[in-house]
Amino acid sequence: MLDVSESLTPRSTLAQRWPLWLPPLIAAFYPYLLDAFHVLVKGEGHITPAAALLLLAAFAVPALGLHLACRASGRGVEQTRARRLGLLLVATPTLYCFVGVNLYMLGIATAEGWIWTLAWLALAPLAAVATPAEHDARTERPTPTLLRVAHGVSGALVALFIAFHLFNHLLSLAGPEVHAVLMERGRQVYRAPLVEPLLVIALLFQVVTGLQLAWRWSTRGGDFQRMFQLASGVFLAVFILGHLNAVFVFARLWAGIETDWAFATGAPTGLIMDPWSIRLLPHYALGVFFVLAHLGSGLRVVLLAHGVARRTADRLWWLGAGAAALVSLAILLGMTGLRLG
Ligand code: HEM
Repeated sequence: MLDVSESLTPRSTLAQRWPLWLPPLIAAFYPYLLDAFHVLVKGEGHITPAAALLLLAAFAVPALGLHLACRASGRGVEQTRARRLGLLLVATPTLYCFVGVNLYMLGIATAEGWIWTLAWLALAPLAAVATPAEHDARTERPTPTLLRVAHGVSGALVALFIAFHLFNHLLSLAGPEVHAVLMERGRQVYRAPLVEPLLVIALLFQVVTGLQLAWRWSTRGGDFQRMFQLASGVFLAVFILGHLNAVFVFARLWAGIETDWAFATGAPTGLIMDPWSIRLLPHYALGVFFVLAHLGSGLRVVLLAHGVARRTADRLWWLGAGAAALVSLAILLGMTGLRLG
């Protein structure tokens, strides 16, 4: 397997420094995969094999980011930077939605492609700048136990809302009416004057503490599950900020629209056929997958700390990740029109 530990040193050439400039370069062109997908489905009226491949390629971008973060397993400033750039690449699909919503509100949505691509292209050479040899000492930083416990406990509480929220979206398989009935009931609890601010504060707390933990953990390499925990956490930090921004700022404050089924599914055109909303498909699919699998990663850490054998904990983690992928697939199929019964 490709390992970048050897090639990344302060004296390596620009070509050898590819783990630093490649992630921003890939992120720069992420939107064009979705644009090309749209051109194909618009022309044919349905998803062709070529369009499906383009959608798969869009999902391959965060997978590649995770792969690069895992491969940068060595020590030093540049290995850490390579890991962080890999993690940032994982968050590309949700960052693209966040940026898109804000540029739309600023009235410059038409310049979005330019702004996105040029910003990433500008970052690529900056990311590849060599670190002076004297700074390339050990950079590993410990992760305070209190921070980890606070993140875990608050995460477990937030998980209660997430479980309800995702079950609600799973009901889209039964149709928008059933989805709406449960959402209306749930709103009486999670939109209650005391509950809603607490929920938002708890999620923002997850974002702040999670980013702090990821920043510290990323100073050292780790096994696949550890890197996955960091990658899913970084994705979720951006996802949560973007999702709260879309629901509270964009829909409720700025546009004054209902945050209902039509809002979530980009009705009437839908997630697949709309040139803007297609970006929501990887954003939602990965949001659901990562939030469930991230909880699984937390559980794995707890199990290991309580003496459960590594093999058993890893097997449980894989089971959880598989289940998370199935739930994500089911929700997205429901949101894009599949009905059971
Ligand atoms: C398929 C994935 C998802 C879709 C389609 C979706 C859609 C929505 C919609 C339509 C609302 C407005 C609800 C309402 O008006 O009552 C909402 C609110 C919210 N969502 Fe999601 N969501 C998804 C995943 C997530 C995930 C993974 C999280 C957490 C990490 C999350 C956190 C929230 C929060 C905190 C709110 C605000 C609740 C409130 O109104 O107080 N969502 N979401």
